[in-house]
Amino acid sequence: EKGGFDHFMLKEIHEQPKAYRDTMRGRLSDDGRSVALSELNITPEQLRGINRVHIVACGTAMHAGLVGKTVIEQLARIPVETDVASEYRYRSPIITPDTLVIVVSQSGETADTLAALREAKRCGARVLAITNVVGSSVAREADDVIITLAGPEIAVASTKAYTSQLIAFYLFGLHLAQTRGTQDEAFVANVLAAMQALPEQVEKILAQAETIKGIAESISHHRSLFFIGRGIDYAVALEGSLKLKEISYIHSEAYAAGELKHGTLALIEEGVPVIALLTQEELYEKTISNIKETKARGAHVFGIYNEGHEAEVAKSVDRQFAIPRTLPLLTPALSVIPLQLLSYYASLALGHDVDKPRNLAKSVTVE
Ligand code: M6R
Repeated sequence: EKGGFDHFMLKEIHEQPKAYRDTMRGRLSDDGRSVALSELNITPEQLRGINRVHIVACGTAMHAGLVGKTVIEQLARIPVETDVASEYRYRSPIITPDTLVIVVSQSGETADTLAALREAKRCGARVLAITNVVGSSVAREADDVIITLAGPEIAVASTKAYTSQLIAFYLFGLHLAQTRGTQDEAFVANVLAAMQALPEQVEKILAQAETIKGIAESISHHRSLFFIGRGIDYAVALEGSLKLKEISYIHSEAYAAGELKHGTLALIEEGVPVIALLTQEELYEKTISNIKETKARGAHVFGIYNEGHEAEVAKSVDRQFAIPRTLPLLTPALSVIPLQLLSYYASLALGHDVDKPRNLAKSVTVE
């Protein structure tokens, strides 16, 4: 049942190229140049009337929502807030009839997410669900549903569900952009072409799992470490940190790279591992200078960056891993893969139960 892999998590990490293809399949026009989300009931007129978007979810699904915020804001220029479901419900969110609430849930049964969905509907918002389970509570109660086609996810640590949620956000962001006229046809076609290259690019990363394994073994001896990044790299840093804590029980914190010097730098001392994400070229120099701040205090930095920057990155980090080149908005679909492998191999090195970490359940049906 594990298809020759030692754990479900590793199997599911390797299923990501297929999950990307399956989630995209049938959702593009015949010529592949535009998005065709025919499952949506929401009309073009209603899509044009949306004035704000709230993305609500828990854990890893919420982290996908943080990427989703950037995707929708950049592609469709609509203000987006992303919130943790257990907070959203209790803060009297400003929900108006022109608010679209997007709930994200692999299982479609997470109690807080479902309660947030109900609250949003009670306030008159339209709800779109991004879920992996057809017929789940979230899928049944939402007005619109985009099913991610990741296939069943068994490991408690979410991997292929997260990346499929990213694909769903890219498709929906482009769909909004097409309908609202915020991006032209050539732009949309270009993003879709880059998306179609992602599965093969993921394969390339997976083929280098041994490199990540070595790094994972070296960090597994540490009690605490940091993940840093700017922009969507920060969103991915949060996901990398959660995954590591969840299955390796090593404490880590994700920090917006520019925020370190406002307190956290005090915790950087000789030998502390810092995992730095550097995929956003326009923020590159800024992140490099934050890396230097940590190195000056003895940090051991592992940089994840875009292919082609080897020479510059080598000057500032101790170990490095290059991801294939893609569009800036699409990098999370690649940069998260080495982080998933990192937590997997760290957990393995420490002898933990990778698929069933202590204290956690796959589906959280209590509030
Ligand atoms: O089924 P859901 O996507 O609603 O689950 C939400 C979280 O419980 C889940 O993503 C959790 O954070 C994962 N175990 C993280 O790997």
